[in-house]
Amino acid sequence: MVATVIDGREIARGIEDDLRIRVESLLHSGVTPCLAVVIVGDDPASHVYVRAKERACARLGINSVRVDIPSDAEYEEVVTVVRRLNQDPEVNGILVQSPLPDGMDEIAITDLIDPNKDVDGFHAQNLGRLVQGDTSGLLPCTPAGVMRMLESVDVDLRGKRAVVIGRSRIVGMPQSILLSQRGVDATVTIAHSRTIDMASLCRGADVIIAAVGISNMVRSDWVKPGSTVIDVGVNRVNDDSEKGYHLTGDVHPEVGAVAGALSPVPGGVGPMTIAMLMTNTIRATEIQHET
Ligand code: GUN
Repeated sequence: MVATVIDGREIARGIEDDLRIRVESLLHSGVTPCLAVVIVGDDPASHVYVRAKERACARLGINSVRVDIPSDAEYEEVVTVVRRLNQDPEVNGILVQSPLPDGMDEIAITDLIDPNKDVDGFHAQNLGRLVQGDTSGLLPCTPAGVMRMLESVDVDLRGKRAVVIGRSRIVGMPQSILLSQRGVDATVTIAHSRTIDMASLCRGADVIIAAVGISNMVRSDWVKPGSTVIDVGVNRVNDDSEKGYHLTGDVHPEVGAVAGALSPVPGGVGPMTIAMLMTNTIRATEIQHET
């Protein structure tokens, strides 16, 4: 079997086309959506992600503001920036790029963001709504993007076994809620570093979402033939190319010979996360201007 490729770039393009219409309509009523991205320090991967977010804003006619804060800044400086952006009526979405430098409390910063501007969907209020079964608000971008990828291959999740590998705040935990929500109805297992016999757990799964950050961890003998595998991993592996590294996922490429559908890295979840961030920015703008 050769897996169907779940092309995140292509799905993201379709989402962006729909978003342009919503941006037009906001522009007609005199509103230009604006996303503020706060980046603290000089993590090279974070800078790559932030540039990709800025380029997406430019494609869609969304204003973007970037606030660069040095890695040795005081925590209070980040707090002041977030408070200022909360108060700024021109700013509709605020995102503080993770990871923050060691010692800075990411969760405390996230909870300072106005929940109506929390385009990452990580504020306790937005995550709380999600747990209550309300998915009409600002959803975490990567898990929401994964759901759209699963929809694109028409996989029926009802009653099926889904294994989410990884229990992060950004992906694994919210992903498990979205998969098990009413109407989607997957039976979800969250696997993590303490899980016993991950391979056999995965072999029983109809859907695997790998979000663990370990290069090529999921091998073909972990995967049930015909199952759907979404690779959320973005791992930098050093090599002697010009760049000095290449990207790998959490899923070994050999899985493509066994799975029914597989998302590639790069070109899978990455563009979808950005498309969902743009969706949230526009949704936040619409909510803020609802009459
Ligand atoms: N770092 C890696 N992924 C994300 C994300 O989705 N949002 C933010 N703010 N930081 C990240």
